Amino acid sequence: MLMMMHMNQQMRLCLILLLSLVTFSCFGQVTFAQLQPLHPNEADALRQIATTLGATLVDSTDDPCQSGKLSISTANLTKYNNSIACNYTDGTFSYVTSLKLKSMSLQGRLPPELIKLTFLQEIDLYQNYLSGELPKEWASMQHLNFISVTATGISGEIPKEWGNFANLTYLSLEANQLSGSIPEELGNLVSLTELALSSNQFVGSLPKTLANLANLTDFRISDNNFNGTVPEFIGRWSKLQRLEMYSSGLEGPINPTIFALGSLNDLRISDMIGPKFDFPKLINKNMEHLVLRNLNMSGSIPTYIWDMELKMLDLTFNNLKGEINSNTTSPTYIFLSGNMLNGTIPDSFLSTRKNLDLSYNNFTLSTNCPESRSNVNLYRSFTSKNKMSGLFSCPSTTNCSNYFRSFHINCGGKDVLIKQTTYEGDRNDGNGAILDYNGKSNWGMISAGDFMDHNENDGYTLSADTQPELYSTARGSPLFLTYYGYCLENGNYKVSLHFAEIKFRDEEPYNRVGRRVFDIYIQGILRWKDFNIKEQANGTGKAIIRTFNAIVTENTLDIRLYWAGKGTTCIPYRGYYGPLISAISVSHEAKKPSIIYIVVGVVGLVLCLIFSIIVFFFWRRNSKHKRRRRDLKGLDLLTGTFTFRQLKAATDNFDSANKLGEGGFGSVYKGQLSDGTVIAVKQLSSKSRQGNREFVNEIGMISGLQHPNLVKLYGCCVEGSQLLLVYEYMENNCLAHALFCKQGLETSTLKLDWETRQKICVGIARGLAFLHEESTIKIVHRDIKATNVLLDRQLNAKISDFGLAKLKEEDDTHISTRVAGTVGYMAPEYALWGHLTEKADVYSFGVLALEIASGRNNANSRAKKEGVCLLEVILQF
Ligand SMILES: *[C@@H]1O[C@H](CO)[C@@H](O)[C@H](O)[C@H]1NC(C)=O
Ligand SMILES: *[C@@H]1O[C@H](CO)[C@@H](O)[C@H](O)[C@H]1NC(C)=O
Ligand SMILES: *[C@@H]1O[C@H](CO)[C@@H](O)[C@H](O)[C@H]1NC(C)=O
Ligand SMILES: *[C@@H]1O[C@H](CO)[C@@H](O)[C@H](O)[C@H]1NC(C)=O
Ligand SMILES: *[C@@H]1O[C@H](CO)[C@@H](O)[C@H](O)[C@H]1NC(C)=O
Ligand SMILES: *[C@@H]1O[C@H](CO)[C@@H](O)[C@H](O)[C@H]1NC(C)=O
Ligand SMILES: *[C@@H]1O[C@H](CO)[C@@H](O)[C@H](O)[C@H]1NC(C)=O
Ligand SMILES: *[C@@H]1O[C@H](CO)[C@@H](O)[C@H](O)[C@H]1NC(C)=O
Ligand SMILES: *[C@@H]1O[C@H](CO)[C@@H](O)[C@H](O)[C@H]1NC(C)=O
Ligand SMILES: *[C@@H]1O[C@H](CO)[C@@H](O)[C@H](O)[C@H]1NC(C)=O
Repeated sequence: MLMMMHMNQQMRLCLILLLSLVTFSCFGQVTFAQLQPLHPNEADALRQIATTLGATLVDSTDDPCQSGKLSISTANLTKYNNSIACNYTDGTFSYVTSLKLKSMSLQGRLPPELIKLTFLQEIDLYQNYLSGELPKEWASMQHLNFISVTATGISGEIPKEWGNFANLTYLSLEANQLSGSIPEELGNLVSLTELALSSNQFVGSLPKTLANLANLTDFRISDNNFNGTVPEFIGRWSKLQRLEMYSSGLEGPINPTIFALGSLNDLRISDMIGPKFDFPKLINKNMEHLVLRNLNMSGSIPTYIWDMELKMLDLTFNNLKGEINSNTTSPTYIFLSGNMLNGTIPDSFLSTRKNLDLSYNNFTLSTNCPESRSNVNLYRSFTSKNKMSGLFSCPSTTNCSNYFRSFHINCGGKDVLIKQTTYEGDRNDGNGAILDYNGKSNWGMISAGDFMDHNENDGYTLSADTQPELYSTARGSPLFLTYYGYCLENGNYKVSLHFAEIKFRDEEPYNRVGRRVFDIYIQGILRWKDFNIKEQANGTGKAIIRTFNAIVTENTLDIRLYWAGKGTTCIPYRGYYGPLISAISVSHEAKKPSIIYIVVGVVGLVLCLIFSIIVFFFWRRNSKHKRRRRDLKGLDLLTGTFTFRQLKAATDNFDSANKLGEGGFGSVYKGQLSDGTVIAVKQLSSKSRQGNREFVNEIGMISGLQHPNLVKLYGCCVEGSQLLLVYEYMENNCLAHALFCKQGLETSTLKLDWETRQKICVGIARGLAFLHEESTIKIVHRDIKATNVLLDRQLNAKISDFGLAKLKEEDDTHISTRVAGTVGYMAPEYALWGHLTEKADVYSFGVLALEIASGRNNANSRAKKEGVCLLEVILQF
């Protein structure tokens, strides 16, 4: 008694502890320190599991249940960064209930032996580098409620047996190489609250059975190849708080009930094709993150948005119109790039904010210049007649004291000197909305976006000491990054982009799971979709340079790297993604000596013809040796690839109203890309064709050819049997249209005077000379005629369909004729023997020139007959 009275507080606690332990043991569940040893079968199972995972369990007398850690060794490293819990006991032994082996870079397979841990509830293998597939055996583990195999690099399909988990609440398969479609059995997992399928290669549509997952609070399906429309049942998951659908592959429309979910506080949808829709009605006023990017959304931004307590608002690359009426200070981050917002920007809106991005819009400049602030991005925010004056917020920057022919940037770093060229550093260490106008030089940079789910600002500039100087620093961006040049002399430029993957370092094996994917735009045109540095360079830490041609017409150049929601977002840590670039080098293309100066007389055109022929021959003789080196190696694949859906959307599903004509290779449609670029889409006859890769290569080479008198090929689309070419759009249709408008073709309002006819003729000659003699690959057109010459707004002639005759030939091998070309334009010896010489083109051009002169395409016309005789004489030489 006396002793009890003197018992101090500590001892009393001990006693209570002991007592309660005894009590709890009776019920089988112990909620704190384990006294029972791990069951020998479980210890054995752990050993097998470790082996399958590519590690060994370091034999120790320690009971992992006691220490809460497994001591695992992989290669030579003993690792302890894991946790194990054994919260179940039968009174004699305890059993493993939770196993977390995160960020350990284990390199084995997922262990089917896991089922031997009979009472396991949680398995977490986040960030390892495993191979093999999801074991279907696991499905028999009735206590399992948490599975994460996020970022482990596994492949294969989801076994349909996985619909049998009795009690699963959390399932993350994110950032793997999983493929196939989602089994409908997954709809049986009715207890699921979190389901993450992002960053895999899943296909097909989402099964209807998923409608049963009514307890979902978090659903992520970004970066997949799903098809079909966004299922309406998502709008019935009333507990949904977070929905992520960046580049999922699904199409719009998005059912309004989804936006109206009352608990939704994190909504991220991007890069989805679908019909136009107005800004949706959101119900939850406490929403934190709203990303509706590149969705073909139109209408205006409703004012209620400004009263919500948003932290992040990203409405970039839509077709939003109207004015901004706001003076509130939320959201913290606002990104409105790439819309058609107009009116003046309220002063209060500008002055109260950081992280405001209004670039690429149609605002009107108010009389006083907005104050220039580094976190307010006003690049190309304002409409203007001239691109230069639209660049910045104030017109004062538009007068160029001199014009430049190059610029070189070391992205994210300091000035470096490489072979007498200074790569100027871009040292801005800002984040959010960056506007860095390098006043001393002729280039600048903007960046927009916030690395969501990550609090540090360490993704904007990166460095890696081990790299060559130019690649030891780089700039990244969570949304897009634009480098622009201004006060540039107009003309052709070579744009070299330098990349090296320095973030996904190979030393940590799980980093190999990381995928970085982004799109490259130059002058607003998509030049490379889904660019992947690591793939292009064949590894990390390796430099890769990609070179593009660009034409500067209004003294400005715009290079934009855009994150279209693809690639992993949890390597090396959660919340890391987006484009990365090491350096940029832009220089004016050295002009090849201009070769054709033809004096055209009063009758002019016939003379023009003879002159060009003479010049062709002269040049051919001079450069015969050059032509033998048909070295294509230096030529980069410049093709932009478009998806079929993109083109379908651009042309309103190939609406006949958009049909421009029917060419020798298929129908041509007018279209408009989501960024506003007007294009012409040529749908090649969809015969099954072997070797699409070859086709893409061919197109790649052709699209590398740029000349003022060639129609620019933006890129192509190869999907299934669909082969489409995307060209720049020519306002004035084809030459035949202008010349022979009376002959059944639609009436043309064009009047071609003599000077214009001469200009057209010389233009064609220049284009041909380029194809034959000056370009990196020599091309004989083989089908020069009035319908293959297009006219732009200023009636400049541009040759189209170059390089296609060969494709056609391959396509038609089963048909008797090997000859591409059109009767009447064909040189006699070509028609007979199908010889592939430039002469054939020159001959056709001759016939065409006579047509241009006479305005007739009647084969019996006298002028033509005479002209052809003349040609035959000339071709004798
Ligand atoms: C196991 O018990 C510990 C100690 O009470 C507790 O912190 C942990 O959350 C439990 N783990 C599981 C998986 O129940
Ligand atoms: C691992 O151990 C082997 C042999 O014990 C040794 O040759 C190798 O260099 C070690 N590797 C590392 C990374 O320490
Ligand atoms: C241990 O894992 C945590 C994540 O679970 C990670 O943040 C940490 O960097 C890891 N530590 C080591 C030494 O790998
Ligand atoms: C299912 O999960 C609930 C809640 O986590 C738990 O109480 C129950 O015991 C679990 N059922 C089985 C069979 O493990
Ligand atoms: C859904 O959640 C509610 C409340 O959290 C719970 O009562 C119910 O059992 C859950 N449904 C299923 C199928 O797990
Ligand atoms: C969706 O994809 C699946 C599998 O790739 C395919 O079988 C199906 O035809 C596609 N459906 C549509 C509407 O494109
Ligand atoms: C915003 O504007 C409203 C009316 O337009 C006004 O009542 C309110 O005081 C303004 N708030 C701020 C912060 O300027
Ligand atoms: C903004 O655009 C809308 C239509 O998109 C138009 O009605 C309105 O007049 C424009 N406002 C200004 C200030 O230009
Ligand atoms: C908006 O700006 C873009 C780019 O400057 C321009 O092409 C477009 O015509 C403008 N639209 C309107 C409605 O002003
Ligand atoms: C890429 O690198 C691997 C080794 O890292 C090599 O085996 C392979 O041949 C390389 N591929 C190309 C196309 O260079």
